[in-house]
Amino acid sequence: MFDKVSDSIPYVGVDDMSAGLFEAQYPIPHGMSYNSYIILDREIAIMDSVEMGQGEIWLQQIEHHLDGRTPNYLIIHHMEPDHSACIDMAMNRWPQLRIVASQKAVGMLTQFFPECDYSSRAVAVKDGDTLSLGDHLLTFYSAPMVHWPEVIVSYEHSERILFSADAFGKFGALQYPDAWENEARRYYINIVGKYGPQVQAIMRKLDGVTVDTIAPLHGPVLRGDLTPYLNLYGKWSRYEPECRGVLVAYASIYGGTAAAALKIAEMLRARGAGEVVVTDLCRDDQSEAVAQAFRLSSMIVAAPTYDAGIYPAMHDFLYHLSIKNYRNRHVGIIENGSWAPIAGKLMRGMLEKLPGIEFTNPMVTVRSRLTNINISELEALADAMAAV
Ligand SMILES: Cc1cc2nc3c(=O)[nH]c(=O)nc-3n(C[C@H](O)[C@H](O)[C@H](O)COP(=O)(O)O)c2cc1C
Ligand SMILES: [Fe+2]
Ligand SMILES: [Fe+2]
Repeated sequence: MFDKVSDSIPYVGVDDMSAGLFEAQYPIPHGMSYNSYIILDREIAIMDSVEMGQGEIWLQQIEHHLDGRTPNYLIIHHMEPDHSACIDMAMNRWPQLRIVASQKAVGMLTQFFPECDYSSRAVAVKDGDTLSLGDHLLTFYSAPMVHWPEVIVSYEHSERILFSADAFGKFGALQYPDAWENEARRYYINIVGKYGPQVQAIMRKLDGVTVDTIAPLHGPVLRGDLTPYLNLYGKWSRYEPECRGVLVAYASIYGGTAAAALKIAEMLRARGAGEVVVTDLCRDDQSEAVAQAFRLSSMIVAAPTYDAGIYPAMHDFLYHLSIKNYRNRHVGIIENGSWAPIAGKLMRGMLEKLPGIEFTNPMVTVRSRLTNINISELEALADAMAAV
């Protein structure tokens, strides 16, 4: 129904509009696609399965394209249940179907399907192994930690297609076509962001392989000039900002910290500090805030002190940044507190553990509401931020 890769490689994946959250935490207001493809040749290969609850639709779509034939291989690029949940349904339906996957994925089969023994029906492939289906020839490449350790990608030679697993995927169902970049960035940074070196490694491994089409496990099939996608993946995986600018990320209970955040955003704009993006961590999508933090070259964090700690929405945000390996950015800090402000020191403590974080001074302390002294301190911080 959606995005066939070519006449011999139809799409048999599903759009899920019912789930509000991906990985039980990231909002997906426009749903999610779980892609699966089928290569029709003298032998037939199904590329991955789909998420739980979508198996019947998936099987029906496969049957439709089989035209009475029987598939030979189920190629598993990734064992995460959003792609592997329906493996057992296909294995039951076609008793001669054989699984092709990495050795680690074969090991995981018994973990996810403890009732089933697929040992005699699973073929483990290593880096560089090939599988001929007739006119189509697949080469497998291991891509450990792009996003899990068992991941492989595969390259189909005759049509120059890279089946890229989670790489080059995005949030959003295929029935909501939008510009790729924003939801691909939010997906990459939050899902794969920790594994930049591993993404670099698979990009190096594929250097010299001519790819005309990328068929990921989420989002649209990418074709035409692939350079913009590859450039973004290069930047994201090297933790380089996409552009000069400042994310002002704040949390506030009674509005004092919010006023400071909005004030400094205005000052930064007036000083030409690049693109200035403001996010309220209590109300806006934090996964988008994390993506914006990676997109821009600088960040200002502003939060109240809360029970001698960091206000929880900010603490969560900083925790997410740290597990996704946020690094190499300029950071300014604004804290608030009515009797013993300590959030600034604690935020700095979380951030200074990350490599390449340079703090921009002064740190500004608000004691409930902004004073004239605070305004001049914010001006000094804005001057310093605009100068980096
Ligand atoms: C539950 C709770 C705990 C707080 N704990 C502290 C604290 O440990 N130290 C402190 O200086 N202020 C504490 N505060 C006060 C706030 O940090 C302070 O009022 C601040 O100005 C709130 O900023 P806002 O106007 O941006 O919400 C606490 C406030 C609340 C509601
Ligand atoms: Fe995944
Ligand atoms: Fe996935």
